[in-house]
Amino acid sequence: MGFTKDDFGEGFAWGVSTAAYQVEGAHNADGKGPSIWDTFAKRKRKIMGGHHGDTACDFYNRYADDLALIYEMNISNYRFSISWSRILPHGIGAVNKKGIDFYNRVIDFCLELGIEPWITLYHWDLPEALQQKGGWTNREVIHWFSYFVDCCIKNFGDRVKYWMVLNEPMVFTGAGYFLGVHAPGKKGLSSFLAAAHHAALCQAEGGRMIKSLRNHSKVGTTFSYSHIEPFRSTNEKDIAAGIKVDALLNRLFIEPLMGLGYPTKELKILERIERYMHPHDEKKLQFDMDFVGLQNYTREMVAYAPLMPFVKAKIIKASQRNVTRTLMDWEVHPPCIYHALHRYNSYDKIKEIVVTENGAAFHDIQENGMVNDAERLQYLQDHIAQVLLAKREGIKVNGYFVWTLMDNFEWAEGYYPRFGLVHVDFATQKRTVKNSGKWYSEFLKNTTAMINEEGRVFYK
Ligand code: FCB
Repeated sequence: MGFTKDDFGEGFAWGVSTAAYQVEGAHNADGKGPSIWDTFAKRKRKIMGGHHGDTACDFYNRYADDLALIYEMNISNYRFSISWSRILPHGIGAVNKKGIDFYNRVIDFCLELGIEPWITLYHWDLPEALQQKGGWTNREVIHWFSYFVDCCIKNFGDRVKYWMVLNEPMVFTGAGYFLGVHAPGKKGLSSFLAAAHHAALCQAEGGRMIKSLRNHSKVGTTFSYSHIEPFRSTNEKDIAAGIKVDALLNRLFIEPLMGLGYPTKELKILERIERYMHPHDEKKLQFDMDFVGLQNYTREMVAYAPLMPFVKAKIIKASQRNVTRTLMDWEVHPPCIYHALHRYNSYDKIKEIVVTENGAAFHDIQENGMVNDAERLQYLQDHIAQVLLAKREGIKVNGYFVWTLMDNFEWAEGYYPRFGLVHVDFATQKRTVKNSGKWYSEFLKNTTAMINEEGRVFYK
């Protein structure tokens, strides 16, 4: 059976995703205030190689060339985020006009090129000024965030239709407020649960605000999702551990949004989130999104681990399992995205799913001015094939965005893992389209790909 882009249907959105701190650079240009990532990246031993995003891909200055490249690659949807402290240097209050101008230029040029802008309001870069007041652990964040959303919709909502409220709340609260490995580097259960509850309230409140200001916008929010399996498939303790980890990683944010509450039944410790609940919060946590953004990279194998605090479970890394893996030590397992889509589809309240991130970091081989990234190419083809399998079974998936357009600052891993369809030489800022990028452009032109019985893609 062969397939082309057309098999996904006419309205299917094909795109690429990026995030402000990972690509923009210009960390203090034109009145931008510092974000928690500017601060965190400067702390000792927080980021691999001591890297930071001061310059990153210099997208702030090179956006026109980069958008032109997206156009040349036949990509018609571009997902990017707004740096909160670029437009509101102190988080709330005075607006930085030059910051607004920058995003206006990006949006206008996208539209001129026929590229649909999809904006993520919050992709992890809280203004440092707000972190000084407790950041996501302070309930006031709902007010600060609303101020930011209001500013974005009033300035950009006349031209931008697609909005995503938060990017992966589980990751920025878990890594940033529980494990301390992402900005702002806080640790502990209390800060995590407070941050999680406030983020969950903001995701719904943000949705309500966008709709009230611009009724015709399409509003979504994005979630990280890893398909979970028990390490020893018939071991009851591993099975039970898998259910707990699934509640934490995959259900904590999406279920309250849909009125299902926090998954406390499966993970008792989450009952402590009630400490942060105010009257009527259950209602305030709910919002009917137009679409949900699914972000999937891998599956996780979970084992019972009695010594692990709170969940008594641990994830067995891919490197310990002798399986094909990426530079992030994430297992390559294409059916994971198929399972993820089925799972989301089983929630009645989800109207539409868009894969807002999927992709992989590998060592790319540079030869004769070309970048040969056969593993990424295979990864993308195989995952897209799984999306099609799901779609053919009636799953309401209506978009797919590759993470990411170009190699960029990969948070705590710095510039080591390269995820891009486009290679970036960070010394010269030269862009080179990788083979995977060339393939994606061809695919988007509608070239036929073949798929065998196991769901793997090949070309005639
Ligand atoms: C996701 C993030 C994105 C990028 C990819 C690899 O969790 O949303 O910014 O770092 O992982």
